[in-house]
Amino acid sequence: MSYVQINNVEKSYQGRQVLKKIHLSVAKGEFVTLLGPSGCGKTTLLRIIAGLERSDAGSVRVNGKEILAGQHKKGQNIGMVFQSYALFPNMTAYENIAFGLKLKKISPENIRQQVGEIMDVLSISGKENNYPHQMSGGQQQRVALARALVTKPDLLLLDEPLSAVDAKVRESARSLIRDIQRRMGITTIFVTHDQLEAMVMSDRIVVMNSGEIMQHGTPEQIYHKPENRFVANFIGTYNFVPGDWVGLSAYEGEVCIRPEHIQMLKKDQLEQFGDSGSVRLQGLLAHYYILGNTVRAEVVVGDRKILVDRLNGFQGSEFETNEEVGLVIDKDACTMLAPGRGEGN
Ligand SMILES: Nc1ncnc2c1ncn2[C@@H]1O[C@H](COP(=O)(O)OP(=O)(O)OP(=O)(O)O)[C@@H](O)[C@H]1O
Ligand SMILES: [Mg+2]
Repeated sequence: MSYVQINNVEKSYQGRQVLKKIHLSVAKGEFVTLLGPSGCGKTTLLRIIAGLERSDAGSVRVNGKEILAGQHKKGQNIGMVFQSYALFPNMTAYENIAFGLKLKKISPENIRQQVGEIMDVLSISGKENNYPHQMSGGQQQRVALARALVTKPDLLLLDEPLSAVDAKVRESARSLIRDIQRRMGITTIFVTHDQLEAMVMSDRIVVMNSGEIMQHGTPEQIYHKPENRFVANFIGTYNFVPGDWVGLSAYEGEVCIRPEHIQMLKKDQLEQFGDSGSVRLQGLLAHYYILGNTVRAEVVVGDRKILVDRLNGFQGSEFETNEEVGLVIDKDACTMLAPGRGEGN
């Protein structure tokens, strides 16, 4: 049975619909990420799940009990980290984190130990006596995260909890959240703009756009089997080519291929490579640049530019710009997109 069940949730603000028939179920212990561009409705959905916002239609159930805005039900132990941190300004970091434990009437000694532990894990020890305005954005975010985690909620709702944290701390905070979440089996709904973060952390990703769920699935499914152009465009990089380029002339829609799934060869090697399961193309290497651990080539084929990624080997490149090159595309690497949905986004 699902732990969180969202049925047909709709929401409008000032006559503009920001959530359209949202259906989603989250299993107990699952880590689900809402991923989508700014303004697509992620925070609104999270606030409805938390009971902080009323939906216009539909229902949300957590552990079998309906969530009604403004009413806290016994047995619904929900922790939330807001996008704006929302710390109590008149309380120190320590008092902010201890707040939920005090409400639970836990002994002061126990509170000290648990708050100390979580502050240590989140690298904010030493900030106990600082008020929110005396901490950086990233530190405030970690206090907010500690405040939610320390109460060991059954459902954890995290709205971009790492957006103000620098890249290095962010990486360790990601594994920390995932570790605690797994160890304690906390059902978690996480919101991010960051697709890499979503891929690394999630059991399942829900891609949203303009108040609608465009696709949900495991990171593998979302990355390798996008169901529409929006998801294909939003996650990673794709080349979009007409079907007839890859021998699918009867297919009306476009075909998309990841840059890392195209092989680039010296032009004179092209004949020796590929088989009946692959397509061979010729083009001009217009541009070549380092992205980090990969190198990206821009190859002009006909009137299109095709991106090709290869590992950035220590021996450097054997290609020159303005060189004629060959491309080999395995037909199995081509994904057909249903025409229509998400077009133009
Ligand atoms: N209280 C409100 N009154 C009016 N409009 C609102 C209100 N809250 C949100 N909106 C609008 O609803 C839409 C969805 O907002 P929401 O905050 O859910 O987006 P989001 O996906 O969380 O975006 P971001 O990634 O920027 O945080 C936006 O167009 C926003 O302007
Ligand atoms: Mg938001």
